[in-house]
Amino acid sequence: MNLREIPLKPFAGQKPGTSGLRKKVTVFQQPGYLEAFVQSVFDTQEALKGGLLVLGGDGRFFNRQAIQIILRMAAANGIARVLVGRGGILSTPAASAVIRRHKAQGGLILSASHNPGGPDGDFGIKFNIANGGPAPEAVTEAIYLCSERIKRYRILEAADLDLDRVGEQRLGGMTVSVIDPVEDYAALLQTLFDFDAIRALIQKPDFRFRFDAMHAVTGPYARRLLIDMLGAPQSAVVNAEPKEDFGGGHPDPNPVYADKLYKDAVIDGQLDFAAASDGDGDRNMILGKGVAVSPSDSLAVLAANARLAPGYANGIAGVARSMPTSRAADAVAKALGLPCFETPTGWKFFGNLLDAGRITLCGEESYGTSSDHLREKDGLWAVLFWLNILAKRPGETVLSILQDHWRRYGRHYYSRHDYEAVDAVKAKTALDTLRVSLPTLLGSKIGELTITNADDFAYRDPVDGSESKGQGLRVICGEQARIIARLSGTGTEGATIRLYFELFEADPARQNEDVQAKLKPLIDFAERQTGIRQHTGRAEPDVIT
Ligand code: G1P
Ligand code: ZN
Repeated sequence: MNLREIPLKPFAGQKPGTSGLRKKVTVFQQPGYLEAFVQSVFDTQEALKGGLLVLGGDGRFFNRQAIQIILRMAAANGIARVLVGRGGILSTPAASAVIRRHKAQGGLILSASHNPGGPDGDFGIKFNIANGGPAPEAVTEAIYLCSERIKRYRILEAADLDLDRVGEQRLGGMTVSVIDPVEDYAALLQTLFDFDAIRALIQKPDFRFRFDAMHAVTGPYARRLLIDMLGAPQSAVVNAEPKEDFGGGHPDPNPVYADKLYKDAVIDGQLDFAAASDGDGDRNMILGKGVAVSPSDSLAVLAANARLAPGYANGIAGVARSMPTSRAADAVAKALGLPCFETPTGWKFFGNLLDAGRITLCGEESYGTSSDHLREKDGLWAVLFWLNILAKRPGETVLSILQDHWRRYGRHYYSRHDYEAVDAVKAKTALDTLRVSLPTLLGSKIGELTITNADDFAYRDPVDGSESKGQGLRVICGEQARIIARLSGTGTEGATIRLYFELFEADPARQNEDVQAKLKPLIDFAERQTGIRQHTGRAEPDVIT
C-alpha cells in the first residue's frame, strides 16, 4: 500500500457554518474538495495522531464514497484507530455517544442534517471534539484558515473496505473497527428513562402512537428502541428504511415537511402521540392529539418535568436555550430557582456549559433538545422523554400537559418565518434596513407594547470568555415580546432569512388562540422594519413553523 501526497490548490469558502461545512453534493464531488477539508482537520487536530477517530454519517448520497476516502486519509495521517458505524451509518447523537463512551479524540460526522439529499441535494461534514460535541468556533476557524493555505493531502492507495460487516480490519498501520451504530446509543438512553413505564404505556391498546423516521438515519435506531426494546408494534415506526435521497423528501420534522403525520395527529386527531426526526436524527417534532408542541415549549416542559425521568430524578443543574428560542424555559428556570443561559444559534455554544456542569438541559426552537448525556441535540431522546412523562402522568394527554404548563408559567406564543434561497445581496439589504433602524426604535410602540431594547446579539461564553458577535438582530419589549431576525448559517443556496416572533400571555383565558393571529402585530412590524417584501420581492415566507 502506497502512501501518496497529492498536490492541491485551496478551495474558497470552506468555512464551517452553524453546523459544519455544508454544500451541494456536486461541490463535494469536485476532485480534492472533501480531501482539502479533511486534511485541514488532520493538520490542525494534533491529538488525532496516534489517536482514536469516530466516523459515520446519515447515509445520504455520497456518504459511502466519502467514508472510504476519509478512512484512507486517516490511515495516511497516522490515526491509530477508527470506529466506523456499520454501512457508514451513525446518527449525529449516536456519533456523540460513541465519541464519549470510547474516549475518542474526535469524530467526523457526514451529514447535511435536514437538508434534502441525492445527487442534486446537499452534503456536509462536521468535526466533533473529544467531549462529543461540535467543534467550538476557535477550532472551526483554525480548520478554515488551514484550508485556505492547504497545498497537499495525504492518502493511502488501497481498495475499499467492507463496511457492512461488524469487526476489525487493517488499513496500512491503522485499525478500522466497524461497530453496530445503535448499540452504544441505545444503552445510554436506557440509563435515562423508565423503560418499564414507557413499555406499559406503548402497549396499552388505546394508546395510538407513531414515529416517522422520514426515510432518514433514525429508522434503525427507532426500530431498536421503540419496537425491540419497548414493544411498540412494527406499524408504529414508519418510513424507517434509510434512503440516500430520503425518498425524495425533505427530512425536516416540522408541520410543513412531516405533513402527513401532522394531519393525522393534529388535524384529524387520530394519534395520541406522534413524533418525527430529521436526516441525521438530532431533531425532533412532538405532536399530540389535536396539538403540535412548539419546540421552545417542549424544552420548558421537559425542564419542568425532568424529575419524572430516572436520569434526572435528582433535579437539573440549569437550562440553556439559543437566543431565538422562546423564553418559556426561562420561566421554568425562574420558578425552580435554576440558572438559565441564552446562547447564540447552534449547538456548539452549549458545549462549555454542559462540560462545566452548569446546565443539564438545553434546546433550540429549530426542533432540537438534549441534555448532558451527550453533546449533540438528540431526537429520540426527546421522544423517549415525552413518553416517560406521559407514562408518569397517567390520565393526561400531550394537550393537557401543555395547558397545565401554560396555566402555571404563562404561554409564550411562538413562530418562525423562513424566506428561503433569497438572493444574498437582497437578504442582506433587508437585515441591514432593520439594523440601521435599531437605535431609533427604543421607546417606540408595537401596538400596546413598548420596545425596551433593540440590538445585535453578542455573546460572551461564561466558561471560557470567548466572544461571538453579530448573532442576530433583536427587538425586545420587556418580558412581553421579542422579534428576532437573522440569516441562516446552514443553507447552501443564496441566503435564508429567519424571522422569529414571541409573545407572552399570562392569562389562561387567552392561552388557546390562533398563533399566527396572536403574533400578527409583531409580524407586521418586522415585515415593515425590514422592508422584506420590497427588498426580496417575496409576498410571504416559504416555511412557517
Ligand atoms: C439551523 C437552526 C439552528 C440549528 C442548526 C443546525 O441553523 O436555526 O438552531 O442549530 O440549523 O441544526 P441556521 O440555518 O438558522 O443557521
Ligand atoms: Zn440534524
